[in-house]
Amino acid sequence: MSGEVRRAAEVLRAGGLVAFPTETVYGLGADAGNAQAVARLYAVKRRPADHPVIVHFADARGAFAWAREVPAAARKLAARYWPGPLTLILKRSALARDFVTGGQDTVGLRVPSHPVAQALLREFGSAIAAPSANRFGRLSPTTAAHVRADLGGEVDAVLEGGASEIGIESAIVDLSRGQAVLIRPGHIGLQQLEETLGAPVAQADAAAPRAPGTLERHYAPRTPARLVAPHALDAEIAKHGARTGKGDARIAVLAFSRPDERVDFWLRMPRQPAAYARRLYAALRELDDANCDAILIESPPEQPAWQAVRDRLLRATA
Ligand code: TXA
Ligand code: MG
Repeated sequence: MSGEVRRAAEVLRAGGLVAFPTETVYGLGADAGNAQAVARLYAVKRRPADHPVIVHFADARGAFAWAREVPAAARKLAARYWPGPLTLILKRSALARDFVTGGQDTVGLRVPSHPVAQALLREFGSAIAAPSANRFGRLSPTTAAHVRADLGGEVDAVLEGGASEIGIESAIVDLSRGQAVLIRPGHIGLQQLEETLGAPVAQADAAAPRAPGTLERHYAPRTPARLVAPHALDAEIAKHGARTGKGDARIAVLAFSRPDERVDFWLRMPRQPAAYARRLYAALRELDDANCDAILIESPPEQPAWQAVRDRLLRATA
């Protein structure tokens, strides 16, 4: 146990805020049983109070104490994927108070695998409420440096844990309503979830009313960003140069293909969905920091393996 983790647990006990690494993205943690601490968490994030926050635990036993019903499906998914990049929505027990559930009768539970997150949870010995450690609606941080750039002096401690291995937020499965529903796709795919459950998993219908916190434009860079089909990329780059009336188009491009000499700022992305996801938020930050007039993003393939990446790109360009 490092001294830093011990001090961070002290900060949490005193009602402070601790940013910490997880395998998905960095979280901004507060004591999930302390109303004032969670209120400060929302204030620092500039997050509306009716948005529920995910609560983190060292193990499934701790997590399930916050649920008043633990269906067999929850036990199956927990046994297979916890600790790991999966969040379960269950009916809450009395431990999950209104200030973490946004007043809903359900609670989001997660057991992260990152060794620093595990060490912090064990040292603290209780539940940690933790949304991603960025301002509301902005890109999630995947390094401690991202957290400092976004939230700097407003956080009491930032634990260092390298770049997040998964790079996008956990998959969220709602098990509070009978049928399992995937409400946020993640590294663990729909097919894997269905195989583990031996039953179909529904997908949140984009047109249906959604839980608070899933509706708003999310994970977005400041620079206007647009998805462009691979075959249309070349023409879009040419068109943009013509619109700005300059030879040097102020556009940034995120693509699978090789850099085009007309574009100043070009990042080439991996063709593997997991590698793409790991790189995604850091890449969008780099493109955003280039301060171009627009970001063009080459659309990823339609295959199911790309679902989580496509979801984040759609939100970034909404
Ligand atoms: O990967 C992750 O899950 C990261 C890391 C830090 O663990 N955490 C994260 O937390 O993304 P957060 O609080 O930003 O996620 C909030 C989302 C909400 O937008 C909503 O979709 C869902 O989690 N959520 C949480 N509690 C819920 C509940 N009771 N009912 C429905 N959805 C809920
Ligand atoms: Mg978030």
